[in-house]
Amino acid sequence: MDIASSSRSKRYGYIELGTGKASLNKISWFLLKFLSSLFLVVWFCEFLVYYLVIMQCKWPILKSTPDQDNASPLKAMFLSDTHLLGAIRGHWFDKLRREWQMERSYQSALWLLQPDIVFILGDLFDEGKWSNTKSWDEDVARFRRMFRHPPHTELLVVVGNHDIGFHYEMTHDKLNRFEKTFNLTSGKVVTRKGINFVLVNSVALEGDNCAICRTAERQIIEASLKLNCSRMRGEPPLLQNCRGVEPLSPSAPILLQHYPLYRKSDSECTGEDSASQDEKNSLFQERYDVLSHEASEKIQLII
Ligand SMILES: *[C@@H]1O[C@H](CO)[C@@H](O)[C@H](O)[C@H]1NC(C)=O
Ligand SMILES: *[C@@H]1O[C@H](CO)[C@@H](O)[C@H](O)[C@H]1NC(C)=O
Repeated sequence: MDIASSSRSKRYGYIELGTGKASLNKISWFLLKFLSSLFLVVWFCEFLVYYLVIMQCKWPILKSTPDQDNASPLKAMFLSDTHLLGAIRGHWFDKLRREWQMERSYQSALWLLQPDIVFILGDLFDEGKWSNTKSWDEDVARFRRMFRHPPHTELLVVVGNHDIGFHYEMTHDKLNRFEKTFNLTSGKVVTRKGINFVLVNSVALEGDNCAICRTAERQIIEASLKLNCSRMRGEPPLLQNCRGVEPLSPSAPILLQHYPLYRKSDSECTGEDSASQDEKNSLFQERYDVLSHEASEKIQLII
């Protein structure tokens, strides 16, 4: 009895071991296939797709004018409202997803399109207006890592209401912190390949004569004088003020600011990226969605 049962159990043992081996192979084969497909899907969706999509974007082809024949054009990329989430309202998973997506699309675009200069037109941070020094430093470090760029590409930013607060909550400290971090002043004129860009703090164009507003307006007038002198524009007595003013390129400037200039609504905007019909019909609020009518006219006149 003993012998019979033990040999049976041995036989069973052998058979069981055999099927065990076979199913183990099957399982590991299945796992391997599953994991490689998973890896491919993740790699495609989280990495490759950015290249495939951005590869379809091309720089516009410029018709060169006789005096520009030899000049290479300036390749400028414009981004805005990156709103890096902050410590107060940001959820870590939301941060992780959004920032990965932003970083990948930005890095893929840099690699494929090789811009000379990138501008981010304000609201870099969601909570710059609230954040204490520690969270500000953390947010800035994340921003610098995500928007890192090779030395032949330049990154310039302008300030938005989320970075320093709307006009009523904007303070010197918050503005200085932003300007120091990003080496910026309102009314700064940046000239690249003969093109003048004027970077303006549009949050300070409230027109109520607040201290920050006064400084910002003075800086814009200084920029205006420089630009006028370079273009020999303005009344003759005015041009006498040009002595000692550093000459800029004589081209018309491009105004860069966070708030759009005044317009009633988006109803006249067309094209692929324009808003839906409903949104186009909704009216803009001055000093909130767009600059005030008055400030817009003033700035268009002097710049
Ligand atoms: C800051 O900007 C000024 C021009 O306004 C420039 O001369 C200077 O090199 C910049 N500093 C840094 C650290 O980029
Ligand atoms: C520059 O010229 C424009 C147009 O002539 C003028 O309105 C503006 O006041 C001038 N800017 C300065 C600072 O004089």
